[in-house]
This record gives sequence, structure tokens and C-alpha cells, in this order.
Amino acid sequence: MSGRLAGKIAIVTGGASGIGRATCRLFGREGAAVLVTDVNEAGGRAVGEAVTAAGGRAAFLPLDVTREADWTAAIDHVLREHGRLDVLVNNAGRGGLPARVPAEHVVLADWELIMAANATSVLLGTKHAIPAMRRTGGGAIVNVVSIYALVGSRGGASYHASKGAARALTRAAAIQYASEGIRINAVFPGFVETGMTAELHARPGVREERVALTPLGRVAEPEDVAPGILYLASDEASFVTGTELVIDGGMTAR
Ligand code: NAI
Repeated sequence: MSGRLAGKIAIVTGGASGIGRATCRLFGREGAAVLVTDVNEAGGRAVGEAVTAAGGRAAFLPLDVTREADWTAAIDHVLREHGRLDVLVNNAGRGGLPARVPAEHVVLADWELIMAANATSVLLGTKHAIPAMRRTGGGAIVNVVSIYALVGSRGGASYHASKGAARALTRAAAIQYASEGIRINAVFPGFVETGMTAELHARPGVREERVALTPLGRVAEPEDVAPGILYLASDEASFVTGTELVIDGGMTAR
């Protein structure tokens, strides 16, 4: 077995699409055994099969990141099958229209859905991964946050707040578990072409505006983000915890 994640057991949430799918594929190529998880069962299964067809090791498990019982089942599954958990990528998240309205127009039920998918999910994943990682004396958690935890925008009060919570939780947990060899880091993608942004980017002018805001002159593909997640998950980042890896084409450097 070779590769930058050789021998590691990894869970990726939201693995059926976008950044999660690219991460599962890359992890598979780099020697990890990947548990692809998602609420989209058909999509997640297809990603698991693609990883396997490419010579990697993968399986699919349904996991709604907002449901604690699902987390318990997923971690139990990994420990039963592999006896260890080395990497968790908290990638699943929710955007879309209800996530993008300004503060005064936020509907409380939508706020709660967004917070559950983007913030509570990270807490639940961290909570359940830590005891599993402790068994083997370490591990790596990578949270997929967003530049919208760093800067504001015209809409998106709920989305910004949920990603801000994930950012703060990353730093807090990094401090809390560093002494146990468990590293907790985050990537902060800019504008990426995925299922989440497809409808938005199809609207007249939106994609062009985002390209104009990005010094490198394009929006990202999921494959631009996955290598950052790979680095933080791998032993190459063994002295890195609590860090914030921005992958945004220079957008927030302005
Ligand atoms: P995507 O929509 O292509 O993929 C998200 C995946 O998460 C989907 O497969 C979906 O089924 C899954 N998911 C949603 N709710 C879930 C739940 N409760 N439990 C389990 N799975 C669930 O979107 P994308 O862009 O790949 O999103 C991945 C992460 O990247 C998200 O956390 C998102 O907020 C973040 N992000 C995306 C950016 C973009 O421009 N696309 C920019 C910055 C961050």
C-alpha cells in the first residue's frame, strides 16, 4: 500500500457531490480506506464504487450529519470493520437560497436547518470521532468551512454565522485535543463549482461577479480544494493544528 494516506481509515461526510466527492477520490488514490457518507445514498454509493473501480478501497454508509444516532452508528461501523479511525473530514453542508438572505429576513426554521447542517454537524462529528481516535493515540479532523466565516457579503446571515461557528469550534477543539495527538484544522474555500452553487452560478451575472472578485480570475473546481484537505489529513501536517487554510484564488487577500 502506498500513497500519502497509506493505511489510514477515513470518514468523509457529504461525499456524494462536489468537494466531498473530489476528496473521496483523492483519498482513495492516496491509499486511504474511505468511508463515503452522505444523505444522498445513490450518489454516495456511486462515489464509493468509482473509488473502488480506480483501485482504491471504499465503502458507502448513509449518514445524516445532523443526527447523533447516525454518528454513533458510523463510528461503530468503522471500529468494527477497521478497528481504528485516523481521519474525519467534516465536509457536508447546506447552502442554497434560505441560507443566503440578509439578517432581517431570516426565517427561524431556516436558520436552524443551516446551523444544524453546517455547525452542529461539526460538533457531532468531532464529539464522536475523538474517542475513536484516542484508541490509537491520534488522528486528524479537517473541517470544510468557507471564506464566508472570514468576510461578509450582501446576503447569507445564516450561512456566515454557521461557518463562523465551525471556525471557532475548529480552534477550540484543536487546543483541547492537541495533547492527545489529535490535530483539528480547517480549509476555507472561496467560490467553487459544485452542486451547492450550480443554480446560483447559472443566474445572469453571478458567476461573472465572483470571477471578478477572485484575483486568480476563475472560480474553483472541487479538485482545487481536495489537495488542501489531503495535506491537513496526512502526516505531512504532523506539526499543524488549529490552522486555517484559505483556498480562494486570492479573494480574501484584497
Ligand atoms: P455539494 O452540494 O456539491 O455537496 C454537499 C453534500 O453534502 C451533498 O452531497 C449533500 O447531499 C450533502 N449533505 C447535505 N446535508 C447533509 C446532511 N445533513 N448530512 C449528510 N450529508 C449532507 O456542495 P459543496 O460545495 O461540495 O459543499 C461541501 C462543503 O463545502 C460544504 O460545507 C460547503 O458549505 C462548503 N463550501 C462550499 C463552497 C462552494 O462555493 N461550493 C465554498 C465554501 C465552502
